[in-house]
Amino acid sequence: MLDARRYPLPRMAARAGTPFYLYDGEALRGTVSRFSALVREHGLLGRYAIKANAARPVLELMRDEGLGVDAGSGNEALRARRAGFPGGTDPAMILLTTDVFRDNALEVVRSERLLPNVGSPGMVEELRVAGHRGPMGVRINPGFGHGVVEACDTGGPSSKHGIWLDALPRVRDDAKAAGFPITMLHAHVGTGPTLPEFDTNIRKLVGLFEQLLPEFPDARTVNFGGGIPHPYRPQEAAYDLATYGAIWDEAVERLSKRARRPIQVEVEPGRYLVAGAGILVTRVKDVTETRANEKGRGHTFVMVDAGFCDLVRPALYGSYHQIEVVGAGARRASEPCVVAGPLCERGDVFTRSEQELLDPRPLPRPEPGDLLVVHDAGAYGAGMSSNYLSMGRAAEIWWENGRARLIARRETVEDLVGRECDVAL
Ligand code: LLP
Repeated sequence: MLDARRYPLPRMAARAGTPFYLYDGEALRGTVSRFSALVREHGLLGRYAIKANAARPVLELMRDEGLGVDAGSGNEALRARRAGFPGGTDPAMILLTTDVFRDNALEVVRSERLLPNVGSPGMVEELRVAGHRGPMGVRINPGFGHGVVEACDTGGPSSKHGIWLDALPRVRDDAKAAGFPITMLHAHVGTGPTLPEFDTNIRKLVGLFEQLLPEFPDARTVNFGGGIPHPYRPQEAAYDLATYGAIWDEAVERLSKRARRPIQVEVEPGRYLVAGAGILVTRVKDVTETRANEKGRGHTFVMVDAGFCDLVRPALYGSYHQIEVVGAGARRASEPCVVAGPLCERGDVFTRSEQELLDPRPLPRPEPGDLLVVHDAGAYGAGMSSNYLSMGRAAEIWWENGRARLIARRETVEDLVGRECDVAL
C-alpha cells in the first residue's frame, strides 16, 4: 500500500481537480522489475494483462522491463503497439486473448501480425474467412476456477470464457483444416483468489495441460493466465512469488517431458503488478446523517466527489479498498462511516462488502474539503471507469522522482459530445 503522505496531494488536487488517480512510477517499477527478473530467472515469458491499467507510462514501463502483453481487444493491442511493443508472432510479445472478435480485433490481428488466442470455437472460422495466416492459441475453460467474488471466477461450467474440453477436438480439427498451427495452450482460472486456492488451481492446470499436450503437436507454449492475488486488506499477507517460481520449474519440466520438446511457460498477471501502485484521491464534499427508524439503523455518510463511475469495483463486486483520510482530518476520532459518491444510485458506495450494500467503516470523521485516499486502485480502476451521468473520467497523474505529471486530463463535455453525429446509414 502506498504511503499517501509522500505526495503533495492538495497541490495536485488544486491543479488537476478531484477526483484523480495517482500512480507511483517508482513503486510500480519496483514490483514489475522484481517480477520480471524472477520470470526470466525461471526461463518464462511474463506478460502484463493490459486490461488492469492501460495508461501509456504503465505500458512503457512494462515494455522497458522486458515483459510482453496480453491484450483483450483490438484497441488494447493498438495501444500496446503505440507504447512500443512489437507486433509479430515470433516471439509474440502481444497476445490477443478475446472471447469473441469485436470491432477491429480481427483486422488488428492481421495488420499487426498478432497471435490470436481463441476463446470460443466459432472464432476459428472467423479467422479463416478473414484470411488469417499463421499460428493461433487456444484459451481453454479447464472446468475449475476461483475469484475474489463469484463474478471474477473464470473457469467452470458457469464461465463463458474459453473452450470447454468437449469442444477442443473440433477446434483442433477446424484449425488444422484452415492451416493454423495451434502453438499455444492457455487458461486463466480466475482472479484475486485466496493464496492457497491460487496455488492449488495452477497445479491442477499443470496436470490438465500435461494431458492435453500430446494432442497438440504444434504447441510450444503453455500460458497460465493471470490471477496472482494482491493484498487489499492491511492484515492480508502478500503472495510469495517464490511459491509460484517452484510451480513454474516443476511445470516446465513436466510439460516438456510429456510433450517431448521444450515447452515455454508464460504467465500474464495484471492486478499483481499494478494494483498497489495506484490510489484514487477524492474530496469530501459533505458529511450527512440519517437516524434509525422502523426501516433500519442510521448512518453517517461521508459524501465524496468520486463515484462508481470512477472506481466500480466496490459497487460491482463488493470489493474492499482501504480508505484513508489525509491531512488534519486524519487526527480526529474514528467512527463508523459510509463513504458514498455523487451518483443518484443507492449502490454508489465505496464501503461495501459482498453481502452488505452499506458496510460502515471506522474512519476519523472527515470534514468537507478533506481529501480521502482510496488505496490499491491501480488495477481495474481508471480502466473500468465510465462516463455515467456524463461525469467525465477523472484525471490521471504519474509520480516519479519527486515530480508529478498529468498523463490523462479530466474529460470535458467537449470530449463527451465530440463523437456525436447525425449521419444517414
Ligand atoms: N489474462 C486474462 C485472459 C484475463 O482475462 C485476465 C483478467 C488476466 C489475465 C489478468 O488477471 P489478474 O492478474 O489481473 O487477476 N475487473 C476485475 C477482474 C477481472 C479480470 C478479468 N480478467 C477486478 O476489478 O477485480
